[in-house]
Amino acid sequence: MTSLAGKRIVLGVSGGIAAYKAVEICRRLMDEGAHVIPVLTKGATRFVGRTTFDALASERVQMSLFDEDDPIPHTTLGQTADCVLVAPATARVIGAYAAGISSDLLTATLIATRAPVVVCPAMHTEMWEHPAVAHNIATLAERGVHIVGPESGRLAGGDEGAGRLSSPADVVAAVSRVLDVGEKRSDMAGLSVVVTAGGTREPIDPVRYIGNHSSGKQGYAFAEEAAGRGASVTIVTTVDRPGPLGATVASGVTVVRVDTAEEMAAATADAAKDADVVIMAAAVADFRPVDPAGVKLKKRDGVPAIELEPTPDILASLGASKPEGQILIGFAAETCDVADNAAAKLNGKGADYIVANDVTAESAGFAHDTNEVLVLASDGRAHSVGLRSKRQVAQAVLDLVVADRDGRADVR
Ligand code: PMT
Repeated sequence: MTSLAGKRIVLGVSGGIAAYKAVEICRRLMDEGAHVIPVLTKGATRFVGRTTFDALASERVQMSLFDEDDPIPHTTLGQTADCVLVAPATARVIGAYAAGISSDLLTATLIATRAPVVVCPAMHTEMWEHPAVAHNIATLAERGVHIVGPESGRLAGGDEGAGRLSSPADVVAAVSRVLDVGEKRSDMAGLSVVVTAGGTREPIDPVRYIGNHSSGKQGYAFAEEAAGRGASVTIVTTVDRPGPLGATVASGVTVVRVDTAEEMAAATADAAKDADVVIMAAAVADFRPVDPAGVKLKKRDGVPAIELEPTPDILASLGASKPEGQILIGFAAETCDVADNAAAKLNGKGADYIVANDVTAESAGFAHDTNEVLVLASDGRAHSVGLRSKRQVAQAVLDLVVADRDGRADVR
């Protein structure tokens, strides 16, 4: 395969034990036809020799900001790269990149490039979970840097936890996806998927409503990921387009615009009748004014007493009438006791999965480009997805759905 043929990839390697896996990543990139330029930090050379990369890559290893042939190697590298990949990325490199500090050739190249950047963190669990590292990762993700991994598993020293570098195959696949040259996934071809997105608006009067902070980004990310994998998608949404995710809605997505919970309930019930997968990412208001005013309420008439009533619980009624084989995914937006509250929603609403987000966590939940979720399945499995782009969250959840369908006899 030569899916990366002609692509100039700067392979940044920083100083962690996982640097030895960068050799395999380099080889795989070369096998895919990429032109690989290795940039090693001083720390990286404590773990793996530059001769190895010299022998495998398209060009010799570069390490210095000062070069006799090229007075500005970081600018040349940054400007000519199709992608800058950092694998492994240590806490130091991540911190320097997030802070805009260029202390060596790798960090200078990261700051000098406009090419897409893929960062693959690898470090011990204590470091990965340190608030400073979490903050730096969130900053990079918000800026559009693609974060791949880390995975959980056995780490150097024998202990277990999150922080292991993603596998070389996953890293190379991520680069292909970012450059949009990878093999297109089609594991949802033939499936019909319904997604809800955005916050409903329950009118108080013609100019005011009860609403919430949902931007629709998470719902659209699901719609686009499912469509990208071949599904035919209907999105029932209160927002036309949540902006930063891209200029157009993916082809294969039918958009149904609604405003209120009542409208969303009707449109979703209709679309879900024949759906294989239903994803309730919308933030539906739980209450609405019983009797919205026909004209704008006036301040001079005093503070209005607004009587509220419950809205239809869309997820619960879909759960109660779910066709056999359909996979129903609810969300839970929580501010405390996330796992317990999500488990209660999973049991109470007849869903197959609940995707729980702590909407008070940094860079997660409402309106952010990133999210961090705990996925609970009705058979007791739990799967946590660390902070990453909403598209990557959608990808991780849909991976579970596809695996679930592949393993089930009763699917349609
Ligand atoms: O849109 P973004 O800005 O990208 O933000 C994403 C998000 C935070 C909105 C999303 O990730 C999310 O958590 N969506 C669910 C928000 C919510 O309403 O959660 P809830 O815990 O109140 O509701 C639980 C589930 O029941 C949800 O699937 C909801 O769609 C559904 N529900 C709620 C009330 C109701 N009347 N009918 C419903 O179907």
